Amino acid sequence: MDTPTTYKAQLNRRPVALVAVMLIGCAYRLPALDARIEALPQRLSEAGLYCDDKMSVPSGELLAYAPSFELWSDGAKKLRWIRLPAGTQIDTANVDDWSFPLGTELWKEFRVDGRRIETRLLRRVSPSTDGWIGVSYVWNSEQTDASIITNGVENALGTTHDVPDSRACMTCHGGRASIVLGFSAVQLARPARTGEATLDSLSANGRLSSPMKSPVFGGSTSEIAALGYLHSNCGSCHNDARSAANTAFRPPRNLDLWLTVSTLGNPSATPTYKTAMDRFIHRGSPEESPIIQRLTHAPFMRRRMPPIAVERPDNEGAELLRQWIRSLPSRANE
Ligand code: HEC
Ligand code: HEC
Repeated sequence: MDTPTTYKAQLNRRPVALVAVMLIGCAYRLPALDARIEALPQRLSEAGLYCDDKMSVPSGELLAYAPSFELWSDGAKKLRWIRLPAGTQIDTANVDDWSFPLGTELWKEFRVDGRRIETRLLRRVSPSTDGWIGVSYVWNSEQTDASIITNGVENALGTTHDVPDSRACMTCHGGRASIVLGFSAVQLARPARTGEATLDSLSANGRLSSPMKSPVFGGSTSEIAALGYLHSNCGSCHNDARSAANTAFRPPRNLDLWLTVSTLGNPSATPTYKTAMDRFIHRGSPEESPIIQRLTHAPFMRRRMPPIAVERPDNEGAELLRQWIRSLPSRANE
């Protein structure tokens, strides 16, 4: 029999896993739906993302961008844009947690097999720390428009892609002072690409309150890729700045996989080295490393990681981490 690879397949075949998930699941409570979502346009065609009837050309004031380290979403292809209100700047006084002007919107489109499945929105609606709302617009099968669906969709448009419940967005996005996770100094410090915003272009165009030079990454290419992978896929929950007020999913505080600008030049100074090395990462032994175990399978009565928004393990991501862990000299050789 094939080993079931998806989370749903595991549940179907393993009653024990189902009971385990139900038990563990009880520990997580999603917050109430944010009432401010009601004021958003119900249809994507009315939300100002596109400037043409076919909904294929993004409006002129949107900036396209791509984070250096992507979140794995079961292989979905993603496009991203930001709209900063005209004449405003991002407050970058805190280099690791930027504060965005009121009215800022970030959009992320998910495509599976070439079809648009959902387009997610994060919008800043008030200056307070909980001033952001997140919601997903789910595309119709004709691909002519998308509508807000707040309680999630399983297997949207006949794919295996699940659209998350809007109450679940902040389990990951609410883990830092900045609700935005992929539009940051760490994620935009990259060589310029045509038509995409980067740290350099934002600095040059006066969009940052304190223009900054791209930080230089230290370490080998494979090390940077591995630390970046953990930052994007795990760091939103596993970081020691996560607010105690975020009650949906409470990861243990002993593991911090978030990258900060000041440690980019020196990998061994990163929180990942400080908190995970020799405890969750065993140098030279990927298969004995809990980080790899949690990413590729769910140990008994434990969840595979990340615990939401992912069904299929990311084999490429796991391989990248394995290679890095294999290359780490054991402590005796240091
Ligand atoms: C598993 C954690 C997780 C969940 C759940 C999640 N996101 Fe995200 N999201 C991320 C990460 C990490 C990024 C940045 C990396 C990337 O874009 O690949 C991101 C990026 C985004 C972006 C681009 C702006 C940014 O913050 O980088 C938008 C918009 C977005 N998410 C909206 C949503 C909405 C709306 C929901 C709920 C319907 C949601 N997300 C649920 C982790 C999550
Ligand atoms: C949505 C939040 C969230 C994300 C994202 C997430 N985790 Fe977790 N993680 C948790 C929670 C909650 C626990 C505690 C419950 C458990 O052990 O299953 C946990 C526990 C763990 C543990 C065990 C820690 C210990 O002290 O025993 C490891 C290791 C781990 N996660 C690794 C990862 C890795 C690797 C990733 C990224 C691929 C990741 N996590 C992404 C929420 C998250």
